Amino acid sequence: MNSLFSQVQVSRYTLSNRMVMAPMTRSRADDAGVPSELVATYYAQRASAGLIISEGVFPTAMGQGYVRTPGIETAEQVAAWKHVTEAVHARGGRIFMQLMHSGRISHPSLLPNGALPQAPSAIKPAGQTWTATGLQDFVTPHALSVVEIAAVIEGYRQAARLAIEAGFDGVELHAASGYLPEQFLSTGSNQRTDEYGGSVENRVRFVLDVLSAIATEIGGDRVGLKISPEMNFNDIVDANPQETYTYLVEHLHGLNLAYLHVALFGANVDYHGLLRPLFDGSYLIGGGLDQHSAESLIADGRADAAVFGSAFLANPDLPERFRTGAELNVPDKNSFYAPGAQGYIDYPTLPAAERV
Ligand SMILES: Cc1cc2nc3c(=O)[nH]c(=O)nc-3n(C[C@H](O)[C@H](O)[C@H](O)COP(=O)(O)O)c2cc1C
Repeated sequence: MNSLFSQVQVSRYTLSNRMVMAPMTRSRADDAGVPSELVATYYAQRASAGLIISEGVFPTAMGQGYVRTPGIETAEQVAAWKHVTEAVHARGGRIFMQLMHSGRISHPSLLPNGALPQAPSAIKPAGQTWTATGLQDFVTPHALSVVEIAAVIEGYRQAARLAIEAGFDGVELHAASGYLPEQFLSTGSNQRTDEYGGSVENRVRFVLDVLSAIATEIGGDRVGLKISPEMNFNDIVDANPQETYTYLVEHLHGLNLAYLHVALFGANVDYHGLLRPLFDGSYLIGGGLDQHSAESLIADGRADAAVFGSAFLANPDLPERFRTGAELNVPDKNSFYAPGAQGYIDYPTLPAAERV
């Protein structure tokens, strides 16, 4: 029987265990989107995960959604990420980069020349976002033309190439949490009347086009996809998520993706039961798991690996703690996105004496 501690093959990679570190934005980059040296330390500390998925990284400057988040576009960004991947690999870990284009969940103050955020349709999301000058309302975004959509897809392709050049083992497309790809998928944010909007076939086109561009560039077996049906985060609404996500996953055939990562938060439908049989690659399950629930999902064969977010954030040696039944450090929410080392690289590991 499989357990959290058994090896698993995810496409070309043999992971040493089934505990995956979730992508988590930590806002420790500089204003040029370059991750600091602390970032290498942070990920290296967590290299005992079977797989690390990096924080969301913007593929092009127009994809940035939050202050001090990192990018993968400039030579300086690539050079800094090389330190990160080398540090993780030196400790025997594996790391994928999450490509995150925030779309309308951004603000002109974060974008080149104060540009309007990009989106499928000019529909302003409800809510506010943190900017350099504090909380500000979201704005009405710019609706991308078909030519501009092609440029966004090209940006993802180049970012995937640069991620591989920076030493990442693969990339994950962030199509969850209400950012650009999910804005295309969902009827509330996509009211286009061309080939990228309207029918489910048209609304999934953007995600499939991005995946196809990335997979052609670096190989589908180095590409994962994250979705979060019914999460309803960032003012995302879809009239029929069951239909949308079924259609999407059915149409991943042929891309030969490494994995599908599904994070659920209070959905009304058993999406894991629905989607897993439709997907050929590895199935990663996430959202509010603890050791016990993750262990039973793996043992029951409902997933190939389990994704832990805040538990990994606060416990660099999470697999060891699970193995020994040690108590877990409690995450400090105040330092999730705060600059500096505190609450980032100073969570304690178990003393050697307890690691028996
Ligand atoms: C501080 C923080 C930052 C996050 N940033 C991202 C992100 O950049 N990309 C993403 O896909 N999910 C992000 N998430 C969501 C996590 O990947 C994960 O889905 C979520 O934390 C649920 O897992 P958990 O209940 O084990 O924490 C973030 C979560 C936290 C706590």
